[in-house]
Amino acid sequence: MEDWREAKTLEELYEAIKDCTRCELGKGRTHMVFGVGNPEAEIMFVGEAPGYHEDLQGKPFVGPAGQFLDQLLRSIGLSRDQVYIANTLKCRPPDNRDPLPGELERCTPYLFKQIEIISPRLICTLGNHATKTLLRTSVGITQLHGKLIRKDDLVYVPLFHPAAALHKPPLKAVLVEDFQKLGKYLEEERRKWEKAAKEPVRVEVEPEQMGLF
Ligand code: URA
Repeated sequence: MEDWREAKTLEELYEAIKDCTRCELGKGRTHMVFGVGNPEAEIMFVGEAPGYHEDLQGKPFVGPAGQFLDQLLRSIGLSRDQVYIANTLKCRPPDNRDPLPGELERCTPYLFKQIEIISPRLICTLGNHATKTLLRTSVGITQLHGKLIRKDDLVYVPLFHPAAALHKPPLKAVLVEDFQKLGKYLEEERRKWEKAAKEPVRVEVEPEQMGLF
């Protein structure tokens, strides 16, 4: 495929971008960390960027933060295969430094294409960087965590980053609690979608068209 924007599936998108060197990070990576999980996931999790383990294995959240994320998923009856997990950046920044604005600008269009293909009911941004980047806000995670936010036809739930919660025990309890809220939001969104699917589709017919039948 010439143009990744035309990808219709995650496989097509991966094939189109796997050798990306739009920014310097592409030159130093071991693996691009495209994302993993169910291509029809109801929930998508977006972290910041691959770390050491992720770069080596080519999968997101495979280190200690990932193990904690798996535990949190189980607490609301979900497994990794049911959700989709990606990051704002697909390649590891050196020494795990923060993503640079230019890197985000070049890389996040791929993430938005993944969101378009997966079309999840909810997107959980993990931590300050993912939250500020996806919601295009300067409001921090301390204020936004656990809230359901509708923006541009997408539904977001910002959460503290599991790695931050592992380093600061008080955040761990907040994250555990926010996951329970997430479980409830998911139920509500499911109900809303099911109701909309049952409603008959209204087709407006112009009076002059009536004569054609
Ligand atoms: N932290 C992230 O933000 N993403 C990963 O994939 C791993 C750790």
